[in-house]
Amino acid sequence: MSHHFLAEAQALNLFWLEIMKEHAIFIYAGLPHERGDLLEQAIRFEIEYRNERDEWKNNYNPTMESVSIAFSNAISLTEEFLHFKLGLLQLQKTCQLGGSLFPLQLDHIAREAREYLTLLNVLSQMLAASGMEGLLHKELFWLRIMGEHASFIAHLLDPSEHMMIQTAQTFACDYDNLLAAASSLSGADPAGASAFTAQIVAETTNLRDWKAQTAALRKECKLMAIVPALFFEHVKKEANYFLSILS
Ligand SMILES: [Fe+2]
Ligand SMILES: [Fe+2]
Repeated sequence: MSHHFLAEAQALNLFWLEIMKEHAIFIYAGLPHERGDLLEQAIRFEIEYRNERDEWKNNYNPTMESVSIAFSNAISLTEEFLHFKLGLLQLQKTCQLGGSLFPLQLDHIAREAREYLTLLNVLSQMLAASGMEGLLHKELFWLRIMGEHASFIAHLLDPSEHMMIQTAQTFACDYDNLLAAASSLSGADPAGASAFTAQIVAETTNLRDWKAQTAALRKECKLMAIVPALFFEHVKKEANYFLSILS
């Protein structure tokens, strides 16, 4: 296996370990205070993902053996984390949880954990997804994720932030349209697919820049919301990841 593949695999894994760690932070922040058992589990996931990330970060010369050990650690941890997220989703949907985690948000981060697991399994089998079918699948997955980010932001901003909420809703609507267009796209038209991908790149670049702007405003306390700047940074990172897949 080439050094290039191992370096790429390491970069992808670092991205996802960081994303999962931040999900644990968001879960902790949104759980009700009386659920000490769940709060403890959220902290444990945050610590475990941070440890895994640090181990990878300091692995400057990845070998096949070290990469496969790290992948198998990440797979078991993420299977467990996915199970935890789905459990919370079930509790929230049946009105047994409380706190401030939207069911759609729990579903969203569960889907991201599943996507990470899929990637880990594909990389573990050294079968990189390729061709139009692979790209189309990824476009569908990430278009939905991007639209949901915009919807979450619209809900998490203070109701007095009219202009920003309106922008967020416009992005959500644009992504709904892109998702509908992507769903009807056929793999048999490469020229059409490539023009469509260019359209997604343009839209996602705008969304990423807007997320960066909201993150900066929130950091400077010039934007009112019930989530910290880390949330906006997190969704910006995911937009950058989507752009890197598209490029
Ligand atoms: Fe996420
Ligand atoms: Fe996300």
